[in-house]
Amino acid sequence: MGGRYIYLRDNTDGKFWSTSWMPVRSALDEYTCRHGMGYTIIRSVSRQIEAETCYFVPVGENLEIWELTLTNLRKTTADISIFSAVEFCLWDASDDSTNFQRNFSTGQVEFVDEVIYHKTEYRERRDHYAYFACSEKLAGFDTQREAFLGRYRGWDSPAVVEAGESSDSIAYGWQPIGSHHIKVQLKTGESKQIVFILGYQENPKEAKFDPPGSQVINKKPVKRTIAKYLQPKNVEAAFDVLRDYWIELLGKFQVNTPDEHTNRMVNIWNAYQCMITFNLSRSASYFESGIGRGMGFRDSNQDLLGFVHMIPESARERIMDLAATQLGNGGAFHQYQPLTKRGNNDVGSGFNDDPAWLVLAVAAYLKETGDWAILDAPVPYENEHGSETPLYEHLQRSLQYTLDRLGPNNLPLIGRADWNDCLNLNCFSDTPGQSFQTTTNKEGRVAESVFIAGLFVLAAKEMVEIARHRQNKGDSAKMQQAARQMEETVWKSGWDGEWFRRAYDDFGHVLGSKDNEEGQIFIEPQGICIWAGLGVEDGRAKKALDSVAKYLATPHGIVLQQPAFSQYYLHLGEISSYPPGYKENAGIFCHTNPWIMIAETKIGRGDQAHDYYTRINPSKREEISELHKCEPYVYSQMIAGRDAPTPGEAKNSWLSGTAAMNYVAITQAILGIQPQYDGLEIKPVIPSKWQGFEAIRHFRGVRYEVSVIRKGTGNRVSLLVEGKNVPGTVIPLPDQGVRILKVTAYIG
Ligand code: BGC
Ligand code: NOJ
Repeated sequence: MGGRYIYLRDNTDGKFWSTSWMPVRSALDEYTCRHGMGYTIIRSVSRQIEAETCYFVPVGENLEIWELTLTNLRKTTADISIFSAVEFCLWDASDDSTNFQRNFSTGQVEFVDEVIYHKTEYRERRDHYAYFACSEKLAGFDTQREAFLGRYRGWDSPAVVEAGESSDSIAYGWQPIGSHHIKVQLKTGESKQIVFILGYQENPKEAKFDPPGSQVINKKPVKRTIAKYLQPKNVEAAFDVLRDYWIELLGKFQVNTPDEHTNRMVNIWNAYQCMITFNLSRSASYFESGIGRGMGFRDSNQDLLGFVHMIPESARERIMDLAATQLGNGGAFHQYQPLTKRGNNDVGSGFNDDPAWLVLAVAAYLKETGDWAILDAPVPYENEHGSETPLYEHLQRSLQYTLDRLGPNNLPLIGRADWNDCLNLNCFSDTPGQSFQTTTNKEGRVAESVFIAGLFVLAAKEMVEIARHRQNKGDSAKMQQAARQMEETVWKSGWDGEWFRRAYDDFGHVLGSKDNEEGQIFIEPQGICIWAGLGVEDGRAKKALDSVAKYLATPHGIVLQQPAFSQYYLHLGEISSYPPGYKENAGIFCHTNPWIMIAETKIGRGDQAHDYYTRINPSKREEISELHKCEPYVYSQMIAGRDAPTPGEAKNSWLSGTAAMNYVAITQAILGIQPQYDGLEIKPVIPSKWQGFEAIRHFRGVRYEVSVIRKGTGNRVSLLVEGKNVPGTVIPLPDQGVRILKVTAYIG
């Protein structure tokens, strides 16, 4: 679907304006746009006519509602024409914008009972169509773009709107659109509601046509839906359902802390963004090409960490989908296509960190739900029927994948890249336009990643717990040994004295070390290794985090590495392709900042953790919106680093792993409310000046009402559950039937 428009025309003098996404001909006195949970309201006042449209998708429906309310603020009666307009996509976004020799000759519509049906290619292999309906009697309609816009004219001044008369065009080839024309007379102060429905329908192949054998779309399945939603009372009811849906989802975790920016993000927007990233991953947006990029394996596993408490059943399904794309050797397709649920061959595999994220996602799911049976569920490899093994084995193969690919220092081989998609140490590309993600010119038997080593330790420690729960002592001991061994390797080859190193390149040279001129220190290994527990007891974690504060932290967040790469290095790949200060080349790649927040809480520094949290918190950054530029309620992938000319300027909002990671950092590490295998843990590491906070957390069917009260300056926790002392920090699972638990946590 292309643009969506609502035009108004004053029929007394022929003046017209748009009141929708695009305020053209802005004779507008006022124009506002408000986003809520799952809806958008656009309001405008022009020529004393107020127009407010609420756009939303009812829960469980494949349709979009536009509920327009027009109000006459004049002292006289208004004679107004309303024109809706949508530009239909011919179902294949890439072909639509390139293959005009074919697609200018395929378009087809039907106009029946005043409803516009878009049915391009329905005559052949497609069995889906779109429909666009309106609650009012029509004065006319259009379905052909050129008839509506007029020759050499654009969406800013459609000829039909200017003339005040539709042409009742029926598209046959060219560019199908949908437009309704409605005429209304509004008395002084009078309001009128008009509903438009833009829907999508799939028919079973055998019931495509009505009557069978004809070329006419079978519209029976949508007729009731259309009739239902053209009634304003049903639209309002659907809106209430949408609101309640979000109240329920967001209600699963609510906090009241002394910081309004924490509250706003945790209670509303961060959780909402987690839902969006979970649903769309990095596809379907203007920032990532929605047609080229599927669901990232790593991305989707990480997104799950911030979403699993909202709808665990969907998280379970996602785990199954992801695991089913896994390769038999434990590796993973880097992406899979959401519609076919198959691995994306064009991008392939070889991002050697990918499989380990599956372990973290499953661990998070188990902790949230206690659904241990998932581990026995049979799941195929590469979607191949007959290759099924229990999910548990997928996890084991995930970790074995790392162990099977160790390099000269016994660190994990990096493959195409690790979390840092742009650290392409085997790519060696000197051809413009070549994909850094898929080009591999080296055998990949030398370049190693300290990041994957840290990630392995983190994931292996989860496997130790998981195996223990399954009473599998052998697996548990084996994983413990593998984690221990990997830690030793990191201390031997991955520790630089003041921080963790980043990698070894194809020549065996270190990266992320004081011995480098550029790229001396990277954020990722500091975050992941300390999160995995390395150096927490012996002071080396503190040393590394002090180095982060000294070399990487800026007022706008923590940059990815320093010093930035000043030129393109063949042996480093895409990371050095960006100008200094942007993206992976020393930008503030927000996704990594929460790892440092988590690491800071591991060494008990709540002030530092929350300070880092605040630096990238969009709600807080609203104070500097002129610089920040992105929405003040949603995390961006990147904020320009200190080497860029505009440090603090954000880019690529919405679809970023920052959402889930930040949610984990603030809710589980800083506020410290963390699901564990055997119960809910309360272990806050909050700023010293906070006297405490309150939280409601729904966990395994129980509502936990938590009060955290500061008694001293430290982080030691004493728990009272329903007035009784509970040792440690984990609240044991209550007896069946218990619905509410009151918890007080004293910290000091
Ligand atoms: C971006 C990365 C991204 C990669 C894969 C690169 O251009 O900088 O952040 O992960 O493309 O799409
Ligand atoms: C964006 C990708 O979606 C994410 O998975 C990756 O880790 C970052 N880029 C860093 O390169």
